[in-house]
Amino acid sequence: MTDDLGFKLMRRGVKVAAKESILTPRFYTTDFDEVDDIFNLEKNPNLPMEELTAMLEEFRKDYNQKHFVRNDGFHDAADEIQGPMRKIFIEFLERSCTAEFSGFLLYKELGRRLQKSNPVVAEIFTLLARDEARHAGFINKALSDFNLALDLGFLTKNRTYTFFKPKFIIYATYLSEKIGYWRYISMYRHLQRNPDNQLYPMFEYFENWCQDENRHGDFLTAVLKARPELLNGLEARLWSRFFCLSVYITMYLNDHSRSAFYGALGLNTTQFNRHVIIETNNATARVFPEVPDCDAPGFWDVMDRMVGYNEKLIAIDRSEAPEFLKKLQKLPYTERILAGCLQLFFMPTLRSGSFDIEGAGSYQY
Ligand SMILES: [Fe+2]
Ligand SMILES: [Fe+2]
Repeated sequence: MTDDLGFKLMRRGVKVAAKESILTPRFYTTDFDEVDDIFNLEKNPNLPMEELTAMLEEFRKDYNQKHFVRNDGFHDAADEIQGPMRKIFIEFLERSCTAEFSGFLLYKELGRRLQKSNPVVAEIFTLLARDEARHAGFINKALSDFNLALDLGFLTKNRTYTFFKPKFIIYATYLSEKIGYWRYISMYRHLQRNPDNQLYPMFEYFENWCQDENRHGDFLTAVLKARPELLNGLEARLWSRFFCLSVYITMYLNDHSRSAFYGALGLNTTQFNRHVIIETNNATARVFPEVPDCDAPGFWDVMDRMVGYNEKLIAIDRSEAPEFLKKLQKLPYTERILAGCLQLFFMPTLRSGSFDIEGAGSYQY
């Protein structure tokens, strides 16, 4: 069953989730016993419990409890969005909903598993899950303005979960919260300055919404600081560099393959992305021991070249060629993207980190 826009439907009004690829939002799972060790107070008496308890109090206040109430404009605004834009809009909503929901699943599970070893941290994770569920639900409701929705229960059971060791989960979630914050706030501010481009009321909610993501990121900062081995030494520096680059490259390629969407909001995809990456990188430099230097000569040239190769990959995917031929045609471009990733990885970086972490590199700017 397909709808007028060509989306496959599971049943009436329920969209089949987009095919997973290396660039689509993922669901994560981890070694929960190891997480338990990290937050176990007997094993880690140095956990900053005072700071974490204060954070828990903040999360309990639930500043956005009454924020996500829809206004009357949603449905009509969705009806106004027609033609190719409608499809691009739905794809944007689906990606965002999946990403928010992925956070919900991971945080909920962490909250459940940590109940015994560290009730304070467990409750914080549960409250993070509360926020993400709210975000995902709000977007899924928006999808229903377009007469579609995602079956999140079905996704939970049927999507592949990527396994990451706990320390990688911490780097990755920290970065996705911070980059999420910068994406939402940058879009919000742009649309405040250019109200004519405000195609859909959802964007008006981004200001308070992004504060949730910012608070989540700050909690993960506290978690990182409690684990000095994640912030000190060569291994930590290499992983920091690696995770920053993977998050930046994924967003840059994804967004550039959907320039029409950002264009419709009056945003220049390249400028918007660079701004978000630079701001995220500046924020991350206060925590991670090393971050990429976005000012390094050639940094953006390599990123832009990778966008070109990714466009080739997309064009091949969309062609009518038989599958085996597509695979063959894609090979040289996949190789060039990988080469680009390596090139970026070996570019100059900034030694960074927080002053208040013993032994961490000083913050250099
Ligand atoms: Fe969120
Ligand atoms: Fe979040």
